Amino acid sequence: MQISDLPLYNQDDDANQAESVKRLKNEIRATQGLLFITPEYNRSIPGVLKNAIDHASRPYGQSAWAGKPAGILGASPGASGTAMAQQHLRNVLAVLDVPTLGQPEAFIQVKEGLFDEAGNIGADSKQFLQNWMDRYVIWVKKTCCLMQ
Ligand SMILES: Cc1cc2nc3c(=O)[nH]c(=O)nc-3n(C[C@H](O)[C@H](O)[C@H](O)COP(=O)(O)O)c2cc1C
Repeated sequence: MQISDLPLYNQDDDANQAESVKRLKNEIRATQGLLFITPEYNRSIPGVLKNAIDHASRPYGQSAWAGKPAGILGASPGASGTAMAQQHLRNVLAVLDVPTLGQPEAFIQVKEGLFDEAGNIGADSKQFLQNWMDRYVIWVKKTCCLMQ
């Protein structure tokens, strides 16, 4: 499913959610863990991401998010590497009962050398991201079993 399949959230539609919203919720429910990979828009997350999060959190009491462990990564050309967007996202996920991996953090600045000529992640960043992913997988396995 694509984030652009979703309509703008409107609480009046809670009793009759769009097919794309139902699909999103089913996909979330089928997962053991979540990965949020986001750019930063004006020091926060993009509105389309917040729209998707809001959709899957409703109707009240029927959120698809609760208990799903999440990792957060972000990349932007800015030196802060989406740090502020990620902090906002953690705030939103906390109220939805989504535990987030605290460390390692991944604030990725997109600059020369991040990708090689073939468009693959360069060696240094690859090692960093592999380490991040290894830690994430261990943590999801631990956390998803605790939450069941
Ligand atoms: C409306 C808007 C606001 C943005 N605000 C920020 C920002 O606050 N901090 C930042 O680092 N980058 C900001 N950017 C840059 C985006 O992070 C960047 O455009 C995006 O990462 C590009 O992603 P792409 O290379 O995958 O297309 C902003 C971009 C847009 C369009």
